[in-house]
This record gives sequence, structure tokens and C-alpha cells, in this order.
Amino acid sequence: MKFFVRIRILLTFTAIVFLQHSKAQNPSSVIKKTDKKASLKNSFKNYFLIGAAINAAQIEEKEPNAAILIPQQFNSITPENIMKCEVIHPQWDKYNFDLADKYVAYGKKNKMFIVGHTLVWHSQLSPFINNIQSSDSLMMFMTNHINTVAGRYAGKVNSWDVVNEALNDDGTLRKSIFLEKLGEDYLRKAFELAAKADPKAELYYNDYNIEQPKKRAGAIKLIKKIQASGTKIDGVGIQAHWSINGPPLQDIENSIIEFSALGLKISFTELDLTALPNPWDLKGADVNQNFEGSPFMNPYPNGLPDSLQRKLAKGYEDLFKLFIKYKNKIERVTFWGVNDGQSWLNGWPIKGRTNYPLLFDSNFKPKLAYKKVMALVPKK
Ligand code: XIL
Repeated sequence: MKFFVRIRILLTFTAIVFLQHSKAQNPSSVIKKTDKKASLKNSFKNYFLIGAAINAAQIEEKEPNAAILIPQQFNSITPENIMKCEVIHPQWDKYNFDLADKYVAYGKKNKMFIVGHTLVWHSQLSPFINNIQSSDSLMMFMTNHINTVAGRYAGKVNSWDVVNEALNDDGTLRKSIFLEKLGEDYLRKAFELAAKADPKAELYYNDYNIEQPKKRAGAIKLIKKIQASGTKIDGVGIQAHWSINGPPLQDIENSIIEFSALGLKISFTELDLTALPNPWDLKGADVNQNFEGSPFMNPYPNGLPDSLQRKLAKGYEDLFKLFIKYKNKIERVTFWGVNDGQSWLNGWPIKGRTNYPLLFDSNFKPKLAYKKVMALVPKK
């Protein structure tokens, strides 16, 4: 081969590799940094906050695209995992504030509304808690935990999910270690401790499925008891892990009306819409059945069909129409994740699936759902 031909081939190859690399690092699909008006946070500025749950890599700005997209689109953040007990309080007398400090600094730098998630939850607890025998010790743990964690970020975290997921789907109280050892009063106590540790933060009760009538009634009962005791509670977080098939909008609307009648702020705290079948929706399926690796439960590994893309977009459009209608009662709408690729729904309730629950695809490209949601707000 002639020398020049070889050089040309080499140059062409280098150019292709360079282009592919720069596309991965800085895809033109990411909304341009300068396009400040075309963002969720700006469009909904006069309605409610728009948040995202962010992971450790995003807090540390290790993902270049996320580092651009998050501050551009969102004016509120929630830590997806790093403020949970198992990370922040690994041993009885040991706390790990490294990532939480960075998280709070990140929110401050970007002038965001900073959510703390979560102080009291039965899940993602540190292993040492299983060894706690007496109710006195558990009360001491809860007291130390809330004082230390909420106390450290007092005046910096804007809103705490004080108690997470204390209810069963039928509205009764979940038999967590907290209920079993401390009795029902642990709920009031948690809010009381949080109010003392950080008098300025908004204090929320947060749960899933509480838009559904039975569980909603349970949540209302729980909240009323806390209020009747004179303890501060400011808001209710409806997690909003929903699906392209529902729940019925009427349930959500009724929840907004009923919760706000308690004098509470309402936030949708963990919004995502699964596009995949859930095991509990399969009639006759054994709940314990292992669906891992089953193509039947992972039907769209190479992309969501157009018809479902439209269904997802319509789902989001309908939800945001409702949110806009009740904008005076809604403080914040937070998505549980930034893009489809890193959504927890790729690993839950079945590991190793490909899901499409958010407004940005795995290349950070805004999806049809994003466009439909943005189109609901008149352009300025
Ligand atoms: C999830 C995280 O997204 C996952 O990364 C983690 O493995 C499990 O927890 N309700 C909550 C959130 O309140 O904290 C959960 O987050 C999702 C359900």
C-alpha cells in the first residue's frame, strides 16, 4: 500500500474514533448548556420545584453529561442512597459524612432545594441494628441518629423525609423493628427529634401507594395523630413509583385534596413510570417466582416500541396536567433518577432488566415524554 493511502486510512480511522468518543462524552443530544430557557426547572418555576434523585457519581460530578444536565434541568435534589442509615451511620458510634457533605455542598453550589432522605426507615439499615435487643437501646439509636444527622445539616437541608414507608398497603402500621420495639409513638418521637435537631427544615412523612384509598386513609390517621400531639409535621411525600398503566388519576387527585386538607404541603418525591410488567400484576404468578433472566419479563432490551413511548409520554402529560391544576398545593415533583440508564428500576423488582421510566434516555437525550411535559407550559 502506498504511504499516502496508509496515512489517509489512519487519519480517517482516528477521526472516526475521535468523533465516536466525543459523541459519547458530549452528545449533541444533551440539551445545550446555553439553552437555559428550555429546562424543566424554568418551565415550572412558578408552579413547583422540579427535582431529581442523584447517586454518588453524580454528586461527585464524575459523569460529565449529568454534571451539565442536573443543574440545568433541576432545582431540587434528593440523595438516592448516601444519606440512608447503612451508608451514613455504619456502626453504633461511627458516622460516615463524606458523601453527604459533598451532596449538601453540591446543592448549595447550584442553589438547589436540598432534600434529606431519610431518617427513619426499616430498609437499608446498618447490620448493627439487628443486634439491638432492648427498646431503650433502640430509642437511644434513633435519638442519636436523628440528632447527629439532622443536626449536622441544620439550616442546610431544606426538607427531611423524617419517616419513610411506615405503612402496609392496607393502611395498618408496618411491623418494623421500630414499631415492634418502640410502639406506635416512635412516629411522633421521630418528628419531635427532627424538629429539635433542625428547627428550620420542613418535615415530611414519605411513602408509596398512599394515593390508594386504603393506604391513604392509614396515612391520614397517622398524620392526624402526630398533629394532635402538637408535634411539627409539614408535608406528605407521595413517592409516585407508578407505571404507564396507572394508578387512576382520580386516586391521585383525591390524595392531593385530602392531604392538603390536613394543612400539609404535598410533594411527589420519587416519580418514575415503569414500562415493564411487575410480578405482582401477573395473575396467578407466584410472588416468590424468580424472573431473573426471563425474556418475558424483560421484553424491550433493545429499545421501547414507539407505541409504548407514546403511552409513557401520555402518562407523564396527564400527570403534569393534574400537577399544574393543583400547583398551589404542590411543593415539589422529584424524579427518582436522572436518566433511564441509571434508574433503580433496571434492577428492581427483577434484576438485569432494561426499563424506560424517566424523561431522559440513557444517553441523556430528552424523550417524547419530556417534550409533552414541556409543551404544557406556555413559552415565555
Ligand atoms: C432505592 C434506590 O434507588 C436503590 O438504588 C437502592 O438499591 C434501594 O433503594 N423508596 C425509597 C427509596 O424511599 O429510597 C428507594 O431507593 C426506592 C423506594
